[in-house]
Amino acid sequence: MKVTTIGTGYVGLVTGACLAEMGNHVVCLDVNPDKIRVLNEGGIPIHEPGLDAVVARNVAAGRLQFTTDVDVAVNHGTILFIAVGTPPGEDGSADLQYVLAAARSIGQRMTDYKVVVDKSTVPVGTAEKVDAAIREELTKRGVPANFAVVSNPEFLKEGAAVEDFMKPDRIIVGSDDEQATLMMRALYAPFTRSHDRLMVMDVKSAEFTKYAANAMLATRISFMNELALLAEKVGADIELVRRGIGSDPRIGYQFLYAGAGYGGSCFPKDVKALVRTGREYGQELQVLNAVEEANDRQKQVLVDKVVARFGEDLAGKRFALWGLAFKPNTDDMREAPALAIIEGLTQRGAAIAAYDPVAMSEASRILSTNPGVSFCERAEHALADADALIIVTEWKEFRTPDFDRFKSDLKQPVVFDGRNLYEPMMMKTLGIEHHPIGRSGKIAAR
Ligand code: NAD
Ligand code: UDX
Repeated sequence: MKVTTIGTGYVGLVTGACLAEMGNHVVCLDVNPDKIRVLNEGGIPIHEPGLDAVVARNVAAGRLQFTTDVDVAVNHGTILFIAVGTPPGEDGSADLQYVLAAARSIGQRMTDYKVVVDKSTVPVGTAEKVDAAIREELTKRGVPANFAVVSNPEFLKEGAAVEDFMKPDRIIVGSDDEQATLMMRALYAPFTRSHDRLMVMDVKSAEFTKYAANAMLATRISFMNELALLAEKVGADIELVRRGIGSDPRIGYQFLYAGAGYGGSCFPKDVKALVRTGREYGQELQVLNAVEEANDRQKQVLVDKVVARFGEDLAGKRFALWGLAFKPNTDDMREAPALAIIEGLTQRGAAIAAYDPVAMSEASRILSTNPGVSFCERAEHALADADALIIVTEWKEFRTPDFDRFKSDLKQPVVFDGRNLYEPMMMKTLGIEHHPIGRSGKIAAR
């Protein structure tokens, strides 16, 4: 099939590359010429494991192209995915300006039947707005309306995006148009060979499903973070509690890890947008308000622990900070807890020596105006003469470090373990002062 993705970011590029991998002919469009230049020169503008190989293979096979030419892109695809950003507006609602601009650009050019797919995360009712925008442009041109708008929210996780797209848990298609539904089924058939994972529903339910999923997952995390804070006070161990409750199949083990708060381009903005939708309809989503509030507080927990240990005035103190990206296996810094933590510490006068395996160039761009932060080429380099180590992101390479270096390189062996990477009992045995999240350290966790 002929497919176009409008927007070549995390979602558009992965969607385009993975659909090309299944034999489709894909054109990826972006308004950002730098992104398209990098792709046309054989580079990948984001860090996403496995994506480079899929892109290279399909470009070489002539099935995947990148362009800034809107005419070429709109004419190419029979199925046009809108995968542009939907960042939070000032009031927290999803800003639809990029989605609607993409819709208009379709309406201004299309000449034959198109299935327009909302892949971006968009509030309920957006498909109607996309439909109206395209229709308006067609009317201006005097061209008959021959298109359908479908909702197909994306559930991939950054850092595992290719795998998630190639082996989806489910594919949600919101469609009221029979022809469009058949085309979506055909497009996704290679991804659902073992059993049919494609669910067709009405457009509004599909749009809502995406927000419901992210809100549910964010709720689990905030709830566990809140329990972790209480566990510390009562002397329980949140890691043991996690196992204890996760074993109940009604709860399950995933997404129950307490830590330094959730970040990323999805949970924070999607929780905000759903709260905002609730307000628009006169329904206050009280649970989600609390989820957001708890997460804002959680991003300060490591700062609070450092202050409790070293005092409110951190002038003259230096901290090693491992992990800048909002989660491992990505260079995405959007809403990363590390940013709030660095801000909280440097405001109090601390100097930060930071390290991240892939996110340092993005982080140094964002933090360029903060003179309190320096970046180290290797994790161990950050330890030199630091008062303590703060771990914010659970990259694999931090799991089994040379603990002797903590003792020889840090001024004193103090670790603030924001992702509970290390066992409290082991750290005690090693003589390292360990500040995890929600762990009593009194019980061996086995
Ligand atoms: P992104 O910021 O990485 O990429 C969006 C791209 O769209 C940018 O490159 C931008 O230049 C381009 N763009 C904007 N307007 C355009 C236009 N009119 N024509 C062509 N290109 C245009 O965003 P993303 O992370 O890929 O997210 C895209 C959407 O998918 C959002 O709604 C997001 O909520 C949703 N989503 C993201 C993820 C994720 O993990 N990142 C997962 C699921 C869903
Ligand atoms: C999320 C959704 O998982 C995905 O389905 C959706 O399409 C996009 O948003 P992503 O933001 O890429 O994906 O990462 P995810 O793995 O969900 O992690 C989000 C944040 O939650 C990270 O900051 C992570 O550190 C945090 N998290 C996750 C926890 O704090 N505890 C957990 O148990 C799981």
